[in-house]
Amino acid sequence: MTKRIVVVASGRGSNFQAIIGALQRGNIPAECVALVTDNPKAYAIERAEAANIPVVVVDYGSFATRELYEQALLAALHEVRPDLVILAGYMRILGSAIVREYAGKMVNIHPALLPSFTGLHAQRQALEQGVKLAGCTVHFVDESLDGGPIILQRCVRVMDDDDEDTLANRILIQEHLALPEAVRLFCEDRLSIEGRKVRTRM
Ligand code: GRF
Repeated sequence: MTKRIVVVASGRGSNFQAIIGALQRGNIPAECVALVTDNPKAYAIERAEAANIPVVVVDYGSFATRELYEQALLAALHEVRPDLVILAGYMRILGSAIVREYAGKMVNIHPALLPSFTGLHAQRQALEQGVKLAGCTVHFVDESLDGGPIILQRCVRVMDDDDEDTLANRILIQEHLALPEAVRLFCEDRLSIEGRKVRTRM
């Protein structure tokens, strides 16, 4: 059955665009029923409009407290009734009420080979540690920071002359493959979570 997917993004939205492309090519049995953003200036909004995807802005700056913002975000998600929530460059930490409600139904893309380099500036952390392989991870979201069960990862080589931008760009190419692939597997009901492991039915 066609799934209802919602993308939550704060900025540029290139991962969102990769999902739009996969949907348009018929690679994912789903309909993107909304882009939800905390940032009224996010470029992701233009991408949504160009693809005729409804936009819901829950402007973080317009709420007096973080709790009120989280309540509004949860209400916005309830309204669009997602089967899957995709955090694609959502630059805030989600409150536990939302994480608990969407346990097993919310995924995130992170630009590192988790569990290494959680949090911000993952590519910079990788360079500082001198690792030879870097990459990206799509994982289910739990209450830990970038710590939920891993769905899939893709890796890239780190070159001696890489800086943060060149490495981030090389990883981003892999993100644009990894995220649509993970979303497809979810929408085809091929993923199951067993403790820390995600099993993929072939
Ligand atoms: C990506 O590197 C993603 O892994 C991280 O934030 C960045 C978002 O990029 N969480 P974009 O908005 O999808 O272009």
